[in-house]
Amino acid sequence: MKKKLIVANWKANPESIREAKEILSSIKRALKNLPNVEAIICPPAVFLAELTRKTKGNPRLEFGAQNAFWELNGAFTGQLGPTMLRNSGAKYLILGHSEARRAGDSDSMINRKIKLALTHGLKVILCVGEEERDEAGQYLQTIRTQLEENLRGVLKKQFANLVIAYEPIWAIGLNARAVDTPRGFLEQAIYIRKVISAFVGKDAALVLPILYGGSVKAENALSFLVEGEASGLLVGRASLEPENFIQILKSADEFVKNH
Ligand code: PGA
Repeated sequence: MKKKLIVANWKANPESIREAKEILSSIKRALKNLPNVEAIICPPAVFLAELTRKTKGNPRLEFGAQNAFWELNGAFTGQLGPTMLRNSGAKYLILGHSEARRAGDSDSMINRKIKLALTHGLKVILCVGEEERDEAGQYLQTIRTQLEENLRGVLKKQFANLVIAYEPIWAIGLNARAVDTPRGFLEQAIYIRKVISAFVGKDAALVLPILYGGSVKAENALSFLVEGEASGLLVGRASLEPENFIQILKSADEFVKNH
């Protein structure tokens, strides 16, 4: 079985590089004994260069950024281009997170960002997810539209550098109304593969990693990997609590080891 991808989305936390280093060093220590996981730490971009300095060449630990602009450089005050992030140690880039969508990232902006990042050597973690799981099933159309608009024009060979994170908005963050069920996730993942297969064919769609995100914690992580058959997890709040996050990494490692 392939390694599980466990992504830590630190969002706008912590406030200092000192705290960031503390969290990272606990995670690094734990990873020494966890050969079956790949942890992808996505700190605030200002900390990337410093955090990644001494971690090159560790196959269990990679870094990512949480957003990027759709141009590489130029007169764009406040923006960060994908190559800058790559040169600061990021290998992955989260795009289309619901919090970035809420702050103004439209489907067409996300599409430009994805194409630029993939062309310039970053792996993209594209987040999709609905506001509500309505009984009429409109949420399926929401997911389809996000995927179709965000991935328009992406070359077939570039899908090898794409990861999808399914994150229902109602399950994210402190205001989460519920956590998805592993079964609910599995159904969505099957649907996502179906939509993606129209882009790249069935075989490529079947191997695309699909992560679950939304209130993942030590207590529920394993169920998404076992019953939900998730390729990995995208963890927000719990990724800032080293004990909690390390427990998630251990569950994933143990699961892969036993299969
Ligand atoms: P959460 O966040 O784990 O705190 O719900 C997940 C996310 O927003 O990626």
